[in-house]
Amino acid sequence: MKKFRVAVVGAMGAVGREMLKTLEQRGFPVSEIRPLDIEANAGKKVLYKGQEVTVGVAAKGAFTDVDIALFSAGADASLVLAPIAASEGAVVIDNSSQWRMDPAVPLVVPEVNPDALDSHHGIIANPNCSIIQMVVAVKPIHDAYKIKRIVVATYQAVSGTGGAAMAELTAQAGQFVRGEKIISKVYPRQILFNALPHIDVFLDNGYTKEEMKMVNETKKILDPAISVSPTAVRIAVFRGHSEAVNIETEQPFNLADVRKLLEKAPGVEVMDDPANLVYPTTLDADGKDAVYVGRLRKDPTVPNGLNMWVVGDNLRKGAALNAVQIAEVLVAKGFKPKAR
Ligand SMILES: NC(=O)c1ccc[n+]([C@@H]2O[C@H](COP(=O)([O-])OP(=O)(O)OC[C@H]3O[C@@H](n4cnc5c(N)ncnc54)[C@H](OP(=O)(O)O)[C@@H]3O)[C@@H](O)[C@H]2O)c1
Repeated sequence: MKKFRVAVVGAMGAVGREMLKTLEQRGFPVSEIRPLDIEANAGKKVLYKGQEVTVGVAAKGAFTDVDIALFSAGADASLVLAPIAASEGAVVIDNSSQWRMDPAVPLVVPEVNPDALDSHHGIIANPNCSIIQMVVAVKPIHDAYKIKRIVVATYQAVSGTGGAAMAELTAQAGQFVRGEKIISKVYPRQILFNALPHIDVFLDNGYTKEEMKMVNETKKILDPAISVSPTAVRIAVFRGHSEAVNIETEQPFNLADVRKLLEKAPGVEVMDDPANLVYPTTLDADGKDAVYVGRLRKDPTVPNGLNMWVVGDNLRKGAALNAVQIAEVLVAKGFKPKAR
């Protein structure tokens, strides 16, 4: 079997660590793993297959003998380093928002639009975590009944902001227990015991940048004709995003048929038996690959309306797993390691 030299840029971060774990757990054919991060983190160790591997510096020249570079170091790093990595011959799979809406860059969720990969020029974008789990869940419904409009409210975990935000929530819990003043640095307001209707910056139209990502990335991945009306909320959960998704379709549907479609959809698991308290929560999704769907019910206020609750692990399917799956599809489509 062909094996690949894989760099992970941002290897010390929340997503970078999950990428290393995901490559290992899925048995991706790696001949050499190269964790890279900022200079201040160089020399630190990360674990891969039970071995400590030394972190190098992500910089010009670091990608000449790399086949695949998984990036999760933020948009500024991707702006500078992704073109460098691509020019040095690595295929970049980028988790940041930097390249997602570039018309020359495919934005890919393997269960939804794998063939978009055929047009890549060295950089491939991984969508925003909230969008990945939503499009995996709504794709079979769109294929069968054509979705016109989605109204979505998200309940997003602090790990979506990164390692520093997880540390802030932990610290605030400690401050609360000790009766100390609660200190907020990562978020503009206390996140402990709170829900902030504010993810990323506010734009002139009154929406946040995160909300507009949901509008634009859904159109790019799934269908430009779908209207999306989003509200993105950060909540005091460590890991796992939840979404209340309201869908309006062109074609009428029967709820039992929708359930059957979702039950056989790739990447989806239906957890929907409210009478027996079966519905997905973030703790059910923690560390898991699937996108969980529950609370399926018709919306009687519009002609063809559906409500559902969608839960996924933002670090896993929302980031690391989707990136590794993109690499797997590339390999299945014939991508080969560089000649040595
Ligand atoms: N967390 C999620 O659920 C999620 C989901 C989808 C996409 N993403 C995206 O993935 C990226 C990383 O997210 P994260 O949550 O893992 O953040 P994180 O925990 O803050 O980790 C980012 C890592 O990259 C390092 N870094 C910063 N600038 C760098 C540079 N120029 N070169 C190399 N390394 C650099 C950081 O070092 P320092 O911390 O020492 O600066 C840190 O180790 C972001 O673009 C984010 O939007 C995150």
